[in-house]
Amino acid sequence: QLSNLQMEESSALRRAECRAKGGSPGFKVAILGAAGGIGQPLAMLMKMNPLVSVLHLYDVVNSPGVTADLSHMDTGAVVRGFLGQQQLESALTGMDLVIIPAGVPRKPGMTRDDLFNINAGIVKTLCEGVAKSCPNAIVNLISNPVNSTVPIAAEVFKKAGTYDPKRLLGVTTLDVVRANTFVAEVLGLDPREVNVPVVGGHAGVTILPLLSQVKPPSSFTPEETEYLTNRIQNGGTEVVEAKAGAGSATLSMAYAAVKFADACLRGLRGDAGIVECAFVASQVTELPFFATEVRLGRTGAEEVFQLGPLNEYERFGLEKAKKELAGSIQKGVAFINK
Ligand code: NAD
Ligand code: LMR
Repeated sequence: QLSNLQMEESSALRRAECRAKGGSPGFKVAILGAAGGIGQPLAMLMKMNPLVSVLHLYDVVNSPGVTADLSHMDTGAVVRGFLGQQQLESALTGMDLVIIPAGVPRKPGMTRDDLFNINAGIVKTLCEGVAKSCPNAIVNLISNPVNSTVPIAAEVFKKAGTYDPKRLLGVTTLDVVRANTFVAEVLGLDPREVNVPVVGGHAGVTILPLLSQVKPPSSFTPEETEYLTNRIQNGGTEVVEAKAGAGSATLSMAYAAVKFADACLRGLRGDAGIVECAFVASQVTELPFFATEVRLGRTGAEEVFQLGPLNEYERFGLEKAKKELAGSIQKGVAFINK
């Protein structure tokens, strides 16, 4: 029986042969926090992704069990598990994409910012690992509060001398997924036909759906606009309350994370026209980070798109969003430079 390490070595040979023949060799992906509520379904969906040849599952608990379980799936990706900080370096070495859902989730009554004290330190440690072991990897950061953890990661990478803004992406795809679903309900359409840009950040009023830019072009009454904006901004809280203390969105988040990771991998492969919303370093507003649509390519977020025309309701929402975002970004930066 081959060990997972031997299987990974033979997969490396297959990759090299494939590359030599001009084919797509598949990518190496690590999930940090892989045994968690998001991590497990995310790991399963990435194991099913044909663009992934090697999947590293890292956590501080239970990663061997999750790895053994997923390794029996008859899909192409070779899975290896890594447990505890002494294995972080091996988990990260050689990775093309690192997805980070490690950290504590909210309980009813909490804001995402209430997670800062615990999750800031977790993200710092993991990003130090990335800077050391795979400084050229694309990072998809899921851990909350995203509006602060992305600036934390940027500061860690700056300190290590490895920062490339194009490669650091805060995952806001769940806001777009929710917006598509709720807008489709109101319009009576299939959600797969709907695309709603959601800009700003990933918490409360910083989540700003641009209903004036919905595709297909649609108009909404003031009541519909108010209802949809509130529902999209509070989608996370809706799930936290329904789970009543058992955590926050995990399954829809794993779906959203895979949608985004798959887009990043298609960009890395060189596919044209891959556009998703993400929270990135930005010059679209006066803030150093902001979520907008970005074009994903071989080097990450290669183009950050402007906001486009906003209506009065959205311009008002944008001012509120920027006010809160400024504080969250500053809090993340200060955490590293204190
Ligand atoms: P969870 O508690 O179920 O899982 C978190 C996992 O992280 C656990 O397995 C835990 O062992 C692991 N972990 C803790 N410290 C670690 C460390 N130092 N290194 C590696 N792994 C570590 O939580 P969850 O429901 O999976 O949520 C994870 C995070 O994702 C939370 O912060 C949550 O708020 C956030 N989240 C973000 C979005 C988004 O849209 N960006 C959506 C949903 C949840
Ligand atoms: C979400 O939007 O579901 C996540 O950010 C988790 C949360 O705390 O709401």
